[in-house]
Amino acid sequence: MFDEVFSAFLELTENSFQLISLLFPYAPTPTTRRRDRASATLSSIFAEIVRSRKSSNRVEEDVLQNLIDSKYKDGRPTTEAEVTGLIIAIVFAGMHTSTTSSTWTGARLLSHTECLEAALEEQQQIVKKHGDNIDYDTLLEMSFLHCCIKEALRMHPTAPIFLRKVRKNFTVRTREGYEYEIPSGHTIASPLVINHNIPYIYKDPNVYDPHRFGHGREEDRVGGKFTYNAFSGGRHACPGEAYAYLQVKVIWSHLLRNFELKLVSSFPETNWLKLSPEPRGKVEVSYKRRMLPRSMLEN
Ligand code: HEM
Repeated sequence: MFDEVFSAFLELTENSFQLISLLFPYAPTPTTRRRDRASATLSSIFAEIVRSRKSSNRVEEDVLQNLIDSKYKDGRPTTEAEVTGLIIAIVFAGMHTSTTSSTWTGARLLSHTECLEAALEEQQQIVKKHGDNIDYDTLLEMSFLHCCIKEALRMHPTAPIFLRKVRKNFTVRTREGYEYEIPSGHTIASPLVINHNIPYIYKDPNVYDPHRFGHGREEDRVGGKFTYNAFSGGRHACPGEAYAYLQVKVIWSHLLRNFELKLVSSFPETNWLKLSPEPRGKVEVSYKRRMLPRSMLEN
């Protein structure tokens, strides 16, 4: 099942992320057909799992169970199609975002010797303290690696723009004192690619500088709680944020500890034609095995 699910998700992702799919989601193109076929395959696999969970009368403590047991305000239970749709949506929301973020973090780290050394130094300190075991608590101690990921996401957010429907009229006041009435019913676009590069908030916004989030600078708080938005904000903020950081830290702490890495290709350009902008072309890395954990323990 794993292979089948994985290939279907890959097919779904590859055929959903073109900007054109946002503008014309039902255009009769080969891409749309491939996307819908992959979605149908996943739906039938997950529907089978939902059915088997329901008929077994087994109750687990997991996301699937939560979705099956959820009820609308009027008491109506979720349907099988809704549960499978939501499961696909959750995996879809977490998969491409995490891979792209891991790639950008690596490309940035390997292009900045000073940051790479600082990230490596942090790993050395953690290995000295805890050995080469990586668990939840050691991952939380990787604060510099955390800032490296956060800074990569500031420069390369997976969602370049947020759209929100206005429910009530409100007024926006700019720094210069201009006021704008925003009427209900309108759609607001908040461009993250601009918000994350405002120079009076982020010093030298074009420079990769994970220290900007460190103690004493905390540039992500300069403009209030929505200054840093890589995981969005408000009611529909990303529920996977903490888990996403853990995943990317697992990947990069393992790579830093075990390999000497060099970026062989030039720093990738951004492919803006994708809904979630990703590196254009290949990001190539050369690697040499190092036994960092053990040798560090001996020092
Ligand atoms: C580095 C990785 C990730 C990034 C950068 C990211 C970013 C985001 C952003 C920006 C949004 C909000 C979009 C909007 O406001 O229109 C969002 C929503 C969401 N994310 Fe993530 N995400 C990541 C990983 C994950 C993971 C691992 C999961 C689940 C396991 C997840 C689940 C979701 C879900 C379910 C939503 C929709 C929330 C809602 O509409 O109420 N994300 N994510």
